[in-house]
Amino acid sequence: MTDTVPALEALTIEQQAQLGSGADFWTTKQLGDVPSVMLTDGPHGLRKQEASSDQLSLSGSLPSTCFPPAVALSQTWDPQSVYRIGEALGNESQALDVQVLLGPGVNIKRDPRGGRNFEYFSEDPHVAGALGTAWVDGLQSTGVGASLKHFAVNNQEWDRMRVSADVDPRPLREIYLRPFQRVVENAQPWTVMCSYNRINGVHASQNSWLLTDVLRGDWSFEGIVVSDWGAVADRVAAVAAGLDLQMPGDENGDAQVVAAVHDGTLDPALVTRNAERLERFARVADASRRPETTWNVDAHHALAREVAGKGIVLLRDDQNLLPLEPVGSIAVIGEFAAKPRYQGGGSSHVHPTRVDIPLDEIRALAGDAAVEYSSGFSSATDADAAALREDAVTVASASDVAVVFLGLFERQEAEGADRPDIELPQDQLDLLEAVTAVQPRTVVVLSHGGALRLAPITAGPASIVDGSLLGQAAGGAIADVLFGVVNPSGRLTETVPERLEDTPAFTNFPGERMHVRYGEGIYVGYRWYDARDIDVTFPFGHGLSYTSFSYESLSVETVGDEFIVTVTVQNTGERAGREIVQIYASLPGSAVARAPKWLVGFGSVDLEPGQSADVTVQIPRDELGYWDEELHGWVVEAGEYSILAAASSRDIRLQSMLAVGSDPIRYRLGSESSLGEIMRDPIAGPAFEGYFAAMFEQFSAGEDVDFTPILDSSPFGRFLGSLGGAIPAGLVEDVLRRANTANGFE
Ligand code: GLC
Repeated sequence: MTDTVPALEALTIEQQAQLGSGADFWTTKQLGDVPSVMLTDGPHGLRKQEASSDQLSLSGSLPSTCFPPAVALSQTWDPQSVYRIGEALGNESQALDVQVLLGPGVNIKRDPRGGRNFEYFSEDPHVAGALGTAWVDGLQSTGVGASLKHFAVNNQEWDRMRVSADVDPRPLREIYLRPFQRVVENAQPWTVMCSYNRINGVHASQNSWLLTDVLRGDWSFEGIVVSDWGAVADRVAAVAAGLDLQMPGDENGDAQVVAAVHDGTLDPALVTRNAERLERFARVADASRRPETTWNVDAHHALAREVAGKGIVLLRDDQNLLPLEPVGSIAVIGEFAAKPRYQGGGSSHVHPTRVDIPLDEIRALAGDAAVEYSSGFSSATDADAAALREDAVTVASASDVAVVFLGLFERQEAEGADRPDIELPQDQLDLLEAVTAVQPRTVVVLSHGGALRLAPITAGPASIVDGSLLGQAAGGAIADVLFGVVNPSGRLTETVPERLEDTPAFTNFPGERMHVRYGEGIYVGYRWYDARDIDVTFPFGHGLSYTSFSYESLSVETVGDEFIVTVTVQNTGERAGREIVQIYASLPGSAVARAPKWLVGFGSVDLEPGQSADVTVQIPRDELGYWDEELHGWVVEAGEYSILAAASSRDIRLQSMLAVGSDPIRYRLGSESSLGEIMRDPIAGPAFEGYFAAMFEQFSAGEDVDFTPILDSSPFGRFLGSLGGAIPAGLVEDVLRRANTANGFE
């Protein structure tokens, strides 16, 4: 958002302060010539209330398309699909006169128990950043602003308004802030929403390092920072830190700001700075209204179905039951077949324009097959599980194939609460065991927002279709995949662990006494399982197809600050299909701790049977970098990187080496510098090498010992002492000063 903004001289400091908080739950204030605009929820459907009828403003929203939540959207690995959904959301927002849609959520799925993981994209920052960027670009192409959330390190629901995420600089930058950085730098969302929690002890809403130094200083963010609803603990501190808009409205906060200005504890220029940003934002948002916008309910539903189909992951099909061939009868079992689970609970909950019922959609595509339904289990807590199970077994045993819908109820995963475990309900597992005992030709369809422990299911013969949460067209999309109308191409963006105890944050979640320690560091998701060589049920990036693909060749070309990776893929099966090619990097022997591999890019291609085509992925050089805690910046170290073309994080198809030159890595030199750092410096090294050579010679006389490792990490100052004054003191100061000056430290 860039625009020249007239001065605020028409508004008093009191009015400028008032601009800094909402007029009510969803709108900003109209003051002088500053217009009022509306912000309301997303992120996978417009939740506009007919009237703010309840304190939490969670009831009575107008019908809108419930698109696939981020958990399914991410499994498409398709920025173009995500862009199109952002565009559709923008048109629905324009039609209902909404200027900002509160999304996307790009927080990292740190632990599978996270209550809002269904609203987030991935355990991997690259996927979250790439798809979050597409979502913002699509939405903002319609003149509706995004609100990138929840900034930052908001990875759990427990104690979310108080808890401090205690996280070290490298995981903070490389994992948790990375998606936000990518979206801000590539898409410039109109707003960023600060989160409820604290980061290393300081509330996001009043964290000037986060909201000003990083967001605006490092990433050149141009929009406004809005608080999560009720996230402001200290409005005066928030204004000083760079929070522009407190939501919902708070007159007390306005008064506190004015009082702080009057008593000299708050610089009025900061109030004016925020007010200027708010005025610019409000003018641009107001000028972007397109009230004439209309949208087609059926077309948006068809888009929801198309993208949901791309987000379905075929996890397993050992018996090749899929796609379902013409049969005499199909048993459809599980309450979710009749009452589909397609979205999560809380502020993202959408009032859909319509809902596809899986059972009806299966019947529509089943041809002459008889389709028998049995609920098998029930959401009613007083249901007779044995009787329901017995009926399901009877229906399954009399059919040629069984499709069993399993998953979690909305009450089990919603905003505001994390899950206690990652288990499917036991009555559902008992049902599946009973059904497969009489009908081994069984397909399981899963509906869930967070990762599940699937080992109990893979212990049996069932094929598994992962429907995650697919939005209002879930039923149609599932039927499309079951009958082969759509060839599944989705890939997991969150690892399916063998056990909860294997997960990265298991001993540090959700924390205690208002602190949660991110003890796993950079080792989140597949980074952890790979580093620890831990078996998983299904790896990050996994997904099967009704056809097969071979990776024929891999090439890597350096073009300026980018690496162009080209992979030739062939469809070696009998059906047209889409392949998602994942590109990982690896650097054995790195100067710092690294994950065994990390995702640096991805692409996809649609291929007819027998067809080959190239997939080209452009990889910015900084995807290879790490955050240097001493230099407070990104560094790409020299080395021979492995570039891996993969069908999943554990299905590497081709590998190539890439020689990369180093960024100029220079540390300030002084007495605590290591001899190695001194010797590698272009000024200090030559100046002292003669003295060192004599010393090394003396050390190793007659010895067949390589002292480099010992000397390399020896502190220069201590070493000088053992040289007995061989290096003139004046020379040391002069050389160090020249070296530090040349390296920009003085
Ligand atoms: C909620 C959520 C946020 C939502 C906002 C408005 O508490 O954390 O995602 O946009 O409040 O409903």
